[in-house]
Amino acid sequence: MPLVKVAKLDEFPPGTKKSIRASKTRILLVNAGGKIYATQSLCTHLSNPLSTGKLQGNLIWCDKHWASFDLRDGSVKDLPEGMTNIEPLKTYPVSIEGADIFVDVPE
Ligand code: FES
Repeated sequence: MPLVKVAKLDEFPPGTKKSIRASKTRILLVNAGGKIYATQSLCTHLSNPLSTGKLQGNLIWCDKHWASFDLRDGSVKDLPEGMTNIEPLKTYPVSIEGADIFVDVPE
């Protein structure tokens, strides 16, 4: 998987969340309390963009039906009403090199 530079660290302060194209993959890049995470950009329920969701600690809440996911491993923490299961988010390794943020995404 290629390492792709996606942002400058000083332009991505805590609380920032953005949908970014990294090579051929659209990712959600999040700074949650100073730690940077990368996940798939769309909710696994009905593909709502997570960049408009609510960030709380290590959780991202989808603002469509309020599923929540743990940014650290993509696991589902809250389900949309009436659902018994949805897929976890894909997560991608993040590395910081100097002042730059890189994400390891599929080719
Ligand atoms: S689309 Fe995200 S919870 Fe339904």
